[in-house]
Amino acid sequence: MAVQVMARRSILAGTGGYLPARVLTNQELAASLDTSDAWIRERTGICQRHIAAPHETAAFMGTAAARQALAAAGAEPAEVEAIIVATSTPDQAFPSTALRIQAALDLPGGFGFDLSAACSGFVYALSVGDSLIRAGQAKGVLVIGTEVYSRILDWSDRGTCVLFGDGAGAVFLRAGAEGTDRGILSTHLHGQGSLGDILYVNGAVGRPDLPGTLVMQGREVFRHAVNRLAESVDEALAANFLTREDVDWLVPHQANLRIIDAMGRKLGLAPERVVVTVDRHANTSAASVPLALAEAVGDGRIGQGDLVLMEALGGGLTWGSALVRM
Ligand code: ACO
Repeated sequence: MAVQVMARRSILAGTGGYLPARVLTNQELAASLDTSDAWIRERTGICQRHIAAPHETAAFMGTAAARQALAAAGAEPAEVEAIIVATSTPDQAFPSTALRIQAALDLPGGFGFDLSAACSGFVYALSVGDSLIRAGQAKGVLVIGTEVYSRILDWSDRGTCVLFGDGAGAVFLRAGAEGTDRGILSTHLHGQGSLGDILYVNGAVGRPDLPGTLVMQGREVFRHAVNRLAESVDEALAANFLTREDVDWLVPHQANLRIIDAMGRKLGLAPERVVVTVDRHANTSAASVPLALAEAVGDGRIGQGDLVLMEALGGGLTWGSALVRM
């Protein structure tokens, strides 16, 4: 049974995605790295990833994904009152990627900012966008996840470089009519800074002495991911007085097929009810959930009225969930 708590809901009115044309296969990686297609597939489910060309920056890809989301929503430029961009790989320290995208889309107004929460970035950004709408501060919010991890990877570290890819995904949130049962039902966010050193980038613009590449204790992250995400699933359902049987689709962060499968089993969902892109996209961090959502909405799998559970965990550690009636 669903209990309606909020009068004003944020409807996911349109979705969009962008992937660079260049595809890098496991076999290509294995030609220059001590790894193999079999190892990568067995441990992660990844077969290939997309890699950005020099002009394909976070702002460039985010703009393309946002344009698609706005078109799908039938949204006028003036409807975009806020832009939230989740990224760990912005084009510049400032202006924000959000305002670069506002300019590229030729939007007439509104405000925008970037948000840093690594692979949980989209779930965090969705939560903030939902809060803006529920507080009455905006009626239309673009929420974008866009990442070029290929530029922060140590391409000689086989333990990390095989795992990631580039891309962008976006949704347009629109304030729903009062009383609607569609929209974001709840979001739950978590962070544990004391675990910051199991997954981090060892540099930034403010640290010119450090080049800034991704460092990860894969096994530790894996362990936390399985436990924290399982808790997140329970938390989201309990908060809405729903059960596992009510969930139509799981749209999880795409880091590792073994983690995704474990979450699908926990929910008792048939494999075809779990949206998987990790095989083709690898881990696109903050872009992975909106890219997966855009794919499944775009090909007609996810339709209006479906109950969709999104969850993610990433560097920080950060983790969280969003439960949405489409
Ligand atoms: N090819 C071949 N061998 C490899 C490779 C590779 N690409 N990478 C590591 N190995 C080797 C290791 O060196 C190790 O060898 P050893 O036993 O001789 O020392 C062996 O394979 C096992 O390594 P593990 O790291 O223990 O392998 P594991 O089964 O844990 O899989 C993986 C590693 C895929 C990284 C896994 O731990 C994982 O997916 N972790 C979670 C990552 C994640 O979820 N990240 C999400 C957040 S990302 C973000 O926020 C930016």
